Amino acid sequence: MEIVDEAKNIVLIGLMGSGKSAIGRTIAKKLGRRFIDTDRYIERKFGKSVSEIFDESGESKFRTVEKEAIKKVSQYIGIVIATGGGVIKDPENFKSLKESGWIIALYASPATLYKRIQGKRIRPLLLNQEDPIKKLEDIYNERKGMYAMADFQIDTENKEINDIADEIINLLNTDKPIANYDPRI
Ligand code: S3P
Repeated sequence: MEIVDEAKNIVLIGLMGSGKSAIGRTIAKKLGRRFIDTDRYIERKFGKSVSEIFDESGESKFRTVEKEAIKKVSQYIGIVIATGGGVIKDPENFKSLKESGWIIALYASPATLYKRIQGKRIRPLLLNQEDPIKKLEDIYNERKGMYAMADFQIDTENKEINDIADEIINLLNTDKPIANYDPRI
């Protein structure tokens, strides 16, 4: 399969559990592109898991490392990038990613997000939360303005990964974006 602009990266953003990694990997496979997951990239560089970095050095250290990772991966051409859910908190990250290609925001309800990440790898922001679904909702409310600045908004609720990947590829084939880009910086 091919899409219109071979040079542009395809960047997935959205809350934890929105499917960035699984959908990104599927899109990459279908298009024969390289796939990078920024959290895994950071873990390889650091030799520690994201939750260990949060635990030992704090969130702000993680955000610094994350920003360096975004600068690096934004320099690649024609790849698929799955980001960590908080990447867009820094407008400069958004700008670097935007300059590298299309930004696709993935959505699902907080209850669905939680169901998807339960029992999977530790999400430090949800650790020790009495009501993790409410916490996801709060995080969403903090970030929704940034997610809304993506070129495309995709609802993943009750959809299969393969179908969502096809939906995104078709969008990139047919649309003449950019509808709502606004870097606000
Ligand atoms: C975070 C999401 C995580 C990871 C870190 C912080 C966030 O990535 O980067 O725990 O701030 O939303 P996923 O979105 O892949 O879970």
